[in-house]
Order: sequence, then structure tokens, then C-alpha cells
Amino acid sequence: MKFIIGNWKMNGNLAEKEAMFKALKNVKTNNKVIICLPFTLLYDNKYKTIIGAQDISQYSNGAYTGDISGEMLKDAGAEYVIVGHSERRFYHNETNDIVKAKAVVAIKNNLIPIICVGETDEEHHAGRTMSVVKKMVLESVPDDGEYIIAYEPRWAIGKGITPTPEEITAVHETIFKTLHSIHKEKTPILYGGSVKSDNASEISELPHVDGLLIGGASLKPETFLPIINSVK
Ligand code: 13P
Repeated sequence: MKFIIGNWKMNGNLAEKEAMFKALKNVKTNNKVIICLPFTLLYDNKYKTIIGAQDISQYSNGAYTGDISGEMLKDAGAEYVIVGHSERRFYHNETNDIVKAKAVVAIKNNLIPIICVGETDEEHHAGRTMSVVKKMVLESVPDDGEYIIAYEPRWAIGKGITPTPEEITAVHETIFKTLHSIHKEKTPILYGGSVKSDNASEISELPHVDGLLIGGASLKPETFLPIINSVK
């Protein structure tokens, strides 16, 4: 079983959600399809698609204007939540400490955090990918509980470029070994960054790739369904 997770980022309205969820109802797959929606679209999931959120407050309910708590996400029907996406780390200055705190709160609320890690273009070119990713994993994961790791090289997100299969394999192996060193070797490791229908199958079959995290191509049934259908 592979994870095929859509991340809608700051996109989508009610009509687009309805169209996607209706289309997903007729898809036959042995894999686990999840859509991480903007907060505004989480409630009223009558199509039974598994849903997740894209962020969570590190605090419990209270005086935190604009934040959304784990309890609220659970109440709205979310089962998963992305934490530490590079866009949160970059635009909202989220550090590994904050990401870890968010993952801990998610687990406390029976949500499975999808913890994102990935190097910048500069780090990639400096040959620092492995050390950067390893440090991000070790500092971002909670001490206990179940979670998912998503490797998303920042330079590949939304750019139409991906690392080579060899590069993806090498980074996923590093993440696997890092998780093994903390007795978390069963943790699923996903790849994200410019996944499309023409590369989804190949990437999903690489060693230590347990699924895909998809941005742009998850927004419309005509681009998302071919990805789901191509992954065995
Ligand atoms: P793209 O698939 O649009 O490159 O985005 C990847 C991503 O950031 C998913 O979280």
C-alpha cells in the first residue's frame, strides 16, 4: 500500500472540492488516497474521502487569534495534518522546534502528522542535502507516536523538475537509516516535488518510497486521477 496525498495549499473552493471528491468516489485503488485541504473546506465530508489539514497550532484551544487547534481539526474530520511544509518554514519562519511541537500536538489529538523535510537549492548545490535532511528529521520528529515523513526538496516544488531516481533513492535511504537509528524504521517516507502522471509510477516504485505528496497536480481530477491510476 502506498500513500497518495494531495496538498491543495491555498487553493480550492467548495465547488472544486465537490467535483474532486465525486470523481474520487469512482476510483479503484489499493493505495491510500488523502487530500489535505485548506481549513475552510474541511467540514462536511459527505464523500468519505480521507482528509487532512495543512497546518496545526502548537497550542491548545484558547486565546490564539487565527490559529486552528488539533481538537478543531479532529472535530472537522481531519485524520492527517501536514506539519513543517517548506512553505510554512520559509514564509512563516517555522523552525524544527515549532514543527516538532506541532507534530506532538497532532499526535495528542489522534491526528497523524506528515512531517516535511527538504533542502534548499543552495544546500543541494553545496552537496549538503544528506546532512541537512538528517538534521531536520532528527530535530522535527516527536519522541513517541506514529507519523509520516515527506521528503520535499525545496528546489523541486512547483518547478517541474525532480531529483534523479538515484538522488531520490539516496535521500530516502538516508532518511530510512536516520529513522532506524531512533527505532522508527516502520515510518512511511513519501516523496514530494513536481510529481505528475508521467513520473508518479517510477518514483513510487523506488526503494524506501512509500508514497507521494502532490501539490499542483492534485488540484484537478484530470491531473490527479491519472496519478492515482498509475501507482500500483
Ligand atoms: P508540487 O507538486 O506542486 O511541486 O508541490 C509539491 C508540494 O509542495 C506538496 O506538498
